[in-house]
Amino acid sequence: MLDQLNSIEKEALASLENIVDQAALDAWRVTHLGKKSPLMTILGDLGKLSKEERPAIGKRGNEVKRALEAALEAKIETLHRAEMERSLKENALDVTLPGRPRPRGRLHPSTQTLREFYAIWAEMGFQVFRSRDVESDEYNFELLNIPQHHPARDMWDTFYTTTPGVLLRTHTSPGQIHAMRAYCPNPIRVILPGMCYRYEQITASKDIQFQQVEGLAVGKHVRMTDMLETMSEFARRIFGAEYTVRFRASHFPFTEPSMEMDVECVNCGGKGCSVCKHTGWLEIAGAGMVHPVVLKNGGYDPRVYSGFAFGMGPQRVTMLKHGITDIRYFWQNDLRFLEQF
Ligand code: PHE
Repeated sequence: MLDQLNSIEKEALASLENIVDQAALDAWRVTHLGKKSPLMTILGDLGKLSKEERPAIGKRGNEVKRALEAALEAKIETLHRAEMERSLKENALDVTLPGRPRPRGRLHPSTQTLREFYAIWAEMGFQVFRSRDVESDEYNFELLNIPQHHPARDMWDTFYTTTPGVLLRTHTSPGQIHAMRAYCPNPIRVILPGMCYRYEQITASKDIQFQQVEGLAVGKHVRMTDMLETMSEFARRIFGAEYTVRFRASHFPFTEPSMEMDVECVNCGGKGCSVCKHTGWLEIAGAGMVHPVVLKNGGYDPRVYSGFAFGMGPQRVTMLKHGITDIRYFWQNDLRFLEQF
């Protein structure tokens, strides 16, 4: 029986040598270490042996069992390692390849300009006041001293909704009334940024939607010189102190007197070029002293209070800054454009 155990061991170890996959290994385990295997049968039947035979056979039997189990463990380990090496080789990972770029979001060029505006105006004491895009005829026109059939309405043709008297605002000026009604009788220093809409032929310089930044200061001793210097200071900060500004007489129904502010052409330095249409000046804002009727509509007594207001086009500033030649790029959401800023 000892011979039998020796040959069981020899044969089992030899057949284990050739095994290269898990299925064959499982079969081997059943054949050589399973309940019905010759080895286990011998070990199970030890009780049937004589007292003299039992210790030697039992000892040798257990030795063989341990040897087979150890060999099996070693084989499992070898197979694992081989499998790992194979998969590493097959799914080779090249750690020297450059990573995939993650597209990073950024602020729209208009937003960047707006934030510069906010920062400058904030330093001069103006806070941001938000006002609605969908307005009533009353706020967009009437309360700003532009009654029905006033010829000035031609300047601000807009998009009307199907609800009579409800329209998309043509300028941020109706926000002046909202701000005055919200703050009256306190003094006011606000800027009102936002989108405006006009029924226009779309061209490189005009779109049907565009941003404005309105400004409004109301108080007891607000004079025109305050406005001139405040706006000049803003222009110096946004364009640089080397550019001169000028104010030209103009007309708006909601300001009296009214004017427009120009800055020396930042493209040609005032010599004249296609950007400034050979005038040497760029129009930057409409402005004026708040009309008494508008002050009254906002709740302020025009005999006690005065104020100035202005409206600027921040997109114009962005265009000048970055050399953008076509305003239609702004809201087309074309990444080739947006990724440049
Ligand atoms: N609302 C005017 C426009 O859109 C600009 C403006 C604002 C003028 C405030 C004077 C005062 O053209």
